Amino acid sequence: MLGFLKREGCDSLICLWAMLLLLPLQVSPHGHDQSGTRGHSIPDRPKLLLVSFDGFRCDYIYRVPTPNFHILKDEGVMVDQVENIYITKTFPNHYTLVTGVYAETHGIVANEMFDSSLNQSFSMETDSRFDSHWWEEAVPLWVTVQKAGRRSGAVMWPGTDVKIHGVYPSKYLPYNSSVSFESRVEQIIEWFSGPEEEAVDFGVLYWEEPDESGHRLGPQSSQMDEVIAGIDEKVGFLINELKKAGLYEKMNLIVTSDHGMTQLFADNIIELDEYVSRDLYMWVDKSPVVGILPKEGKLEEVYNKLLDANPNMMVYRKEEMPPRYHYQHNSRIMPIILEAKEGWTIMQNRTGHFMLGNHGYDNTLRSMQPVFVARGPAFRQNHVKPFMRSVDIYPLMCHILSVRPLPNNGSLLNVQDLLAPEPVTSTPSVPPRAEEYSYAPVVGCFLSVVMVIGFLMVFIREVTLRQLPSLQHRRREMSQPLLQEDLHL
Ligand SMILES: *[C@@H]1O[C@H](CO)[C@@H](O)[C@H](O)[C@H]1NC(C)=O
Ligand SMILES: *[C@@H]1O[C@H](CO)[C@@H](O)[C@H](O)[C@H]1NC(C)=O
Ligand SMILES: *[C@@H]1O[C@H](CO)[C@@H](O)[C@H](O)[C@H]1NC(C)=O
Ligand SMILES: *[C@@H]1O[C@H](CO)[C@@H](O)[C@H](O)[C@H]1NC(C)=O
Ligand SMILES: [Zn+2]
Repeated sequence: MLGFLKREGCDSLICLWAMLLLLPLQVSPHGHDQSGTRGHSIPDRPKLLLVSFDGFRCDYIYRVPTPNFHILKDEGVMVDQVENIYITKTFPNHYTLVTGVYAETHGIVANEMFDSSLNQSFSMETDSRFDSHWWEEAVPLWVTVQKAGRRSGAVMWPGTDVKIHGVYPSKYLPYNSSVSFESRVEQIIEWFSGPEEEAVDFGVLYWEEPDESGHRLGPQSSQMDEVIAGIDEKVGFLINELKKAGLYEKMNLIVTSDHGMTQLFADNIIELDEYVSRDLYMWVDKSPVVGILPKEGKLEEVYNKLLDANPNMMVYRKEEMPPRYHYQHNSRIMPIILEAKEGWTIMQNRTGHFMLGNHGYDNTLRSMQPVFVARGPAFRQNHVKPFMRSVDIYPLMCHILSVRPLPNNGSLLNVQDLLAPEPVTSTPSVPPRAEEYSYAPVVGCFLSVVMVIGFLMVFIREVTLRQLPSLQHRRREMSQPLLQEDLHL
């Protein structure tokens, strides 16, 4: 970055000014620990709360009156179609929201996984989910926020009660499905409202509904109307509590989900036992996308028996997965993948538990896609965007929080139009404010010294130049390209 300073003929005065401009970038350290902002008072640090209502399908907000979702939409932004990631299951998608990468990259490729090299299983329903190694192929945003010297708070979001890359969120509640939505909201608001040195800057909040009811009743059930209206009331409760705490106007609030839900039919069942013996393979994860790990030497046999077995089931070798799924390059993805067509269920036989609603299918199906509304000082008002990918939410959040995003599969450019025209936070190329503030005294002293030297040099130079007028032309020519270069920083 500083390469051009060494350029031949660089005018020493301009070099000095360039250094002055670049200094704040050079002194910013990486790898602050979680100790926070060291007590400096920091005005108006950007705040962001990311809320997920599990299984809230994009079109639910039009099914019954949802005045609170519409308040957020009118006061902020909505995205009509959010393409989430394959597989459209809970853990993979929640981890994508906070990492910006596809499942094959973050490694949480399913709710139930098997690692053949370690002979270990992962299940979101067992203590195996606390095992750090499953989560460490990516770095979630709360870890990055804390490494930038700021604080995060998490209520029940998948992975937030797991130690990832050595840290937990600054504040978190261990997962407990019995804790009410209202308590979760009160808890996270308390963490956001603490004294500045203790308050969290980034929060994540998770609620299990309407996913549970969607599975049990099926999304077509009229009883779902009530469930959806109930979620809207919960959004209303959240808005109210934020107002009561004086946070509503400061808070950047994103309300979204991991996936949608589709209706299943009891006649649409694919029974694998009809096609291949259970002795030949291990079954990993659940319908509608099932990972098949054939026993040693049985891959061809199992594949051939399943291929063309049922017209409602796609059978892929891992290498043949459609590229648009980005679901291939990870050893946790099984050698054979079965994918049911929408509305179909894959089972070994019919004796298992049958649900009336499910998700996990192709992520380009509208029924699999989540809602997205957001409001707050960073967002535009009353703006509807037709399309985005859920991987773009991560760079958007990094921008709002002024933290440097890690390499990811999204792009801020894709979602720039969701942001208020006047940027309320610094651009992402500038390091987090907390870092600048912690180093402000050192930088300040150094800058003063440099400026004094700079002015002395201007003075000496002007005296010299007056005696050598031809040099003055040269200086003008030289400054043009350098000034332009400065603008690109
Ligand atoms: C893998 O683990 C299971 C128990 O979880 C055990 O029965 C089996 O023998 C192990 N296989 C290998 C190859 O170590
Ligand atoms: C889960 O939360 C409920 C309700 O707050 C509480 O009664 C219960 O003790 C909690 N369970 C655990 C394991 O903490
Ligand atoms: C279905 O599978 C279960 C084991 O999961 C077995 O106990 C049962 O007998 C099977 N039913 C039929 C009809 O094959
Ligand atoms: C997604 O991003 C990661 C991290 O930059 C990268 O390694 C991976 O190749 C990307 N995947 C795709 C499909 O571009
Ligand atoms: Zn879910």
